[in-house]
Amino acid sequence: ATLLIDASPQSAKKIPDTLFGIFFEEINHAGAGGLWAELVSNRGFEAGGPNTPSNIDPWSIIGNESSVIVSTDRSSCFELNKVALKMEVVCDNEGPNACPPDGVGIYNPGFWGMNIQEGKTYKVILYIRSLGPVNISVSLTSSDGLQTLASSRIQATYFEVSNWKRIELILVSKATNKDSRIQLTSNAKGIIWFDQVSVMPLDTYKGHGFRQDLFEMLADLKPRFLRFPGGSYVEGSWLSNAFRWKPTIGPWEERSGHFNDVWNYWTDDGLGYFEFLQLAEDLGATPVWVFNSGISHNDEIDTLDISSFVKDLLDSIEFARGSSSSTWGSVRAAMGHPKPFDLKYVAIGNQDCSKKNYIGNYNKFYSALKTAYPDINVITNCDASSGRLDHPADLYDLHVYTSANGMISMAHHFDHTPRVGPKAFVSEYAVTGRDAGRGSLLAALAQAAFLIGLEVNSDVVEMASNAPLLVNDNDWRFTPDAIVFNSWQLYGTPTYWMQQFFTESSGAVIFPIKMVSNPSNSLVASAIKWRCSEDEIYFRVKVVNVLAKTVSVKISVTGLDASVNPLMSFKTVLTSINPMDENSFGEPEKVTAKEMSFPSASTEMNALLPAHSL
Ligand code: AHR
Repeated sequence: ATLLIDASPQSAKKIPDTLFGIFFEEINHAGAGGLWAELVSNRGFEAGGPNTPSNIDPWSIIGNESSVIVSTDRSSCFELNKVALKMEVVCDNEGPNACPPDGVGIYNPGFWGMNIQEGKTYKVILYIRSLGPVNISVSLTSSDGLQTLASSRIQATYFEVSNWKRIELILVSKATNKDSRIQLTSNAKGIIWFDQVSVMPLDTYKGHGFRQDLFEMLADLKPRFLRFPGGSYVEGSWLSNAFRWKPTIGPWEERSGHFNDVWNYWTDDGLGYFEFLQLAEDLGATPVWVFNSGISHNDEIDTLDISSFVKDLLDSIEFARGSSSSTWGSVRAAMGHPKPFDLKYVAIGNQDCSKKNYIGNYNKFYSALKTAYPDINVITNCDASSGRLDHPADLYDLHVYTSANGMISMAHHFDHTPRVGPKAFVSEYAVTGRDAGRGSLLAALAQAAFLIGLEVNSDVVEMASNAPLLVNDNDWRFTPDAIVFNSWQLYGTPTYWMQQFFTESSGAVIFPIKMVSNPSNSLVASAIKWRCSEDEIYFRVKVVNVLAKTVSVKISVTGLDASVNPLMSFKTVLTSINPMDENSFGEPEKVTAKEMSFPSASTEMNALLPAHSL
């Protein structure tokens, strides 16, 4: 095959600065038990929340019924999360009914075990109240409680704890155990209430609460935008359980938390609206705020009643962008971010276009937004690639979930769509089903072909992101995902490594390519150029070969600036023996991009494209 690339300045087309970003959804324990570094699960004993029966899982009891009785009541000092845990120690300090030597109490194993590491510092915060003096041991231990990694003691008189008291302890672990838990134990008879028990490692990204290793994986994708917080998570199965931003801001202890009824788990909402905006800023990404359109999977707000949702949206924008003297901007400032966040994109709903009240609700949101914040880009759920919209929008959201072949043919979806009107935001794309497994090379290659198609059509496509981004290996709710992790390990699936080929595309220029003798139209290619610094310019050709055989390709580049003097050339290849190959904790780098020098690079060059490769 031959690729004829016209790299003359007059053929160059600018790719939008925002083209490739990431989509974070609270799915698969991506946030709670994932990127959000809080180690305690259900820290307020509130799981289930106000709309489903509350429970204390995964808290458990140390001791037996004759030594300790645990229940919950609604005596917490926090108004939005009234449930507190009541622990009645019925054994004695000594004598015939003496408590076991290590005491009785409760423990929390976090999200499938806490990864406690030697030499690392953990901040423990908890709230206690009691009817008498307390002497409580707070320790980080192995999962059977036999190995103590770090511990401290809370000793207080009745007067100090007769009302709720906030306790803060710093623990340094003397050993590593990836399957640890926190224990709160006592061997003195009495009644103690606990609430809002938190264990945070101190080494989160910039102290902002993001787990370092996962944050770095995201940052390495150089995302230009961050779409958040879902997905279906935004909609909820029922509106009563959907993500609403106001209870997720302010001090973490005061947040109500909510039951994620689409993906079936409780979240304490430590990762709330503020933290998502902070995450976007820390990643250097433009935030894209997906707002519930008054529609869940099973119920809808009538357009006549949507005004409280509209007000909520306007308040959320004031929270993000308002001056620190505005009503909501002052709340943001009090949370430590007086400077406004750079919020310019708002999506109304998720996959709701066909719902009865969507257009009516959308129009209300749109006009209120444009009146108050004319520069906000409003994103509709209705597809404008196949027909004209009957409502105004700056962008339209399109989700693509299909087979490998389906994804490859979607590379041409935008070749013939209208060149005027709202731009496309492909906010979710993934090869799913048999072709994808738990993240196959084949899926990654088909997606690469699709992304090349988006680069080529980036005059009408402004943004694109893969979905889902993260999966905790203990809770696969949606397959495949880009990054797999547990409490202490992580790896990128081939889809993750594929995206690294596109990290420089946003804001680059793209050149037309003519393909001569492309075997069965199986090669998909693009050529881009970008400036890295005053005197460093890169030119990159990407080619996907989905055939099961090596293809020899001749690449001919005309029109490149004559003064360009290649200093370094590289070839980067993502491939494996079998297109269904996947990575795993055992073999995290089975399918990753390998970079090598490519001295024969020039304006006339030959390359061998391995079978099934990018
Ligand atoms: O990405 C997983 C889910 O797929 C999203 O929550 C939803 O928008 C889509 O159906």
